[in-house]
Amino acid sequence: MFRALRIAIVCVSLGNIASCARAGSLQSSFVIPVSVGKASKPVLVAPAQTNSVTRGRSLFLKNCAHCHADDAHGDEGPDLHKLKRSDDFITRRIRNGVKGEMTAFTEKFNDSDIKSIISFLRTLN
Ligand code: HEC
Repeated sequence: MFRALRIAIVCVSLGNIASCARAGSLQSSFVIPVSVGKASKPVLVAPAQTNSVTRGRSLFLKNCAHCHADDAHGDEGPDLHKLKRSDDFITRRIRNGVKGEMTAFTEKFNDSDIKSIISFLRTLN
């Protein structure tokens, strides 16, 4: 992922469109649709982060969306847009859940999974 970042920086600083195109298109390195559900808006994300956000979104859709809704605006669980909670809080909430309310995912997700989910949640503004 650092290689992609370096290529992006090089082609931005040289203004060399051809090398950007070879690097896999500057635009697709930076802009990905992050909203889930019908409404999707492009959000600017650093290239090194895009994989993590995409993975987080996919984990969210599989594991969280049935309670927090596909668009994360809340259903049985609360709206997760503009979360004021810290990364530590969210990590603990995902690991431990809330008895009788939210599933505990400590067995299912490793640290990198949880980081990806948090990266995705931080794009929900
Ligand atoms: C079984 C339904 C259910 C599932 C599955 C679920 N949640 Fe929740 N979640 C809830 C409920 C209900 C709450 C509110 C709990 C409370 O604070 O009383 C909650 C609270 C939260 C909060 C805290 C919000 C706040 O500001 O207090 C976060 C963050 C969160 N969930 C993220 C997730 C993520 C990420 C996943 C998937 C990995 C997930 N949840 C899966 C039901 C669920």
